[in-house]
Amino acid sequence: MKFFIDTANLEQIKEYQELGILDGVTTNPSLLAKEGIEPMEQLKKICEIVDGPVSGEVIGLKTEEMVNEARELIKIASNIVIKIPFTKDGIKAVKILEPEGIKTNVTLVFSQNQVLIAAKAGATYISPFIGRLMDSGQNEIDMLKESMKIIKIYDYKSEIIAASIRNARHVIESAKMGVHIATIPFGVLEKMFKHPKTEEGVKAFLKDWEKLQTQLKKK
Ligand code: G3P
Repeated sequence: MKFFIDTANLEQIKEYQELGILDGVTTNPSLLAKEGIEPMEQLKKICEIVDGPVSGEVIGLKTEEMVNEARELIKIASNIVIKIPFTKDGIKAVKILEPEGIKTNVTLVFSQNQVLIAAKAGATYISPFIGRLMDSGQNEIDMLKESMKIIKIYDYKSEIIAASIRNARHVIESAKMGVHIATIPFGVLEKMFKHPKTEEGVKAFLKDWEKLQTQLKKK
C-alpha cells in the first residue's frame, strides 16, 4: 500500500519523507489556506521535498477554467497531479487533461457511481472521502470495498486513494481490501507509529540492560 500524507505543512511532510515511508502528498484549498502562504509557492516547496506525486487542486468550476489552471499548475514541477472535483465539468476536464499526459486526482467522491464514472473518464487517481461519509452516518467501508471491486473487475487503470481518513482503523480497513493508496493526516500517522506496549518494552529492556552493566562492574 502506498502512503500519501494529507497536509500542506512542510515540517510534517519533511518528517515522514525522512522516515522513508512517504510515497506522495495530497493537498486541498483548505489545507493550503491553513499554511497562509501563496499556494503555488507552497506547492513548489512541497515538490522539492518529495519525489512522488503531489496533488494540487483547481479552484475554477468550469471545464475551461480547470484546464487552464491545470496547465499553470503543472509548470511547478513534474510530479504535480491535478486534483479535480467530481462534477460534470470536472469529468470533462479529466477527459481533456489525461490524454495530454497530465495526471488527475478526482476528489470529493462519495459514491460507487462516482468512482465508476471517474474511472471510465480515465482519472489516474480517485479519492473517496471516507471520513466525511462516516461523519454523515453512511457506511464508508462498504463504499470503499464496492469501489475497489468495480475497479478490479474492469481492470480500470485508476488508483483509489482512501481520503478524508479519520483514524488508524481506516488505514487498516483500506489495506485489508487492497486499496492502492491511503492519504493520511499527520496526526493519524503518528498514532499508527505509537503503541504503549512498544514504549513500555523499550524502557524495560533498557532498565534490565543497565542492571546487568551495574552487576558486571561489581564483579
Ligand atoms: O484528502 C481529503 C482530505 O483532504 C479531506 O479530509 O478531513 O477535510 O474530510 P477532511
